[in-house]
Amino acid sequence: MHIHRYEKIWLSFGIAMLVVFLVVLGVGAFALGAQTPGDHDHSQHQSRQTVDPETVDQTAPFNDLGLKKIGENEYDAYMLAFAFGYGPDKMEVPQGATVHFHITSKDVVHGFQIPGTNVNMMVVPGEVNHLTYTFTKKGEFLILCNEYCGAAHEMMQAVIIVK
Ligand code: CUA
Repeated sequence: MHIHRYEKIWLSFGIAMLVVFLVVLGVGAFALGAQTPGDHDHSQHQSRQTVDPETVDQTAPFNDLGLKKIGENEYDAYMLAFAFGYGPDKMEVPQGATVHFHITSKDVVHGFQIPGTNVNMMVVPGEVNHLTYTFTKKGEFLILCNEYCGAAHEMMQAVIIVK
């Protein structure tokens, strides 16, 4: 019957649109996820690490924050961002040190920027972001939050001293 044929066509069209929509949504979500700042360091780390923000400060490695020496003047820096500060809020490294930052948030989205360098990433609760930087110059480097996170956002900072 003709009416059935048209119904079938219309039904197929509807299903096709639904599939297209879901694919677009899926690809969009994936692409968005793949663009998480700090996620570009695929060579040395897993592309994606998740963590429970509620218990992160009792979960290794974030239960023991700070610098861990992993090589000749090379360090892992495990850090937590929270309203309104960073743990630890002060770190010292020798000149020329390569630091692999691993950071997540205990509460809301924060920023992680070191002015004067190309270090700039978002700190998202539930996700661990990574970024590597080599401190070739001596001095004091401020880590600042560049995502508005509440009343004391402007006060949120930490310092890295390069000697
Ligand atoms: Cu944290 Cu602004």
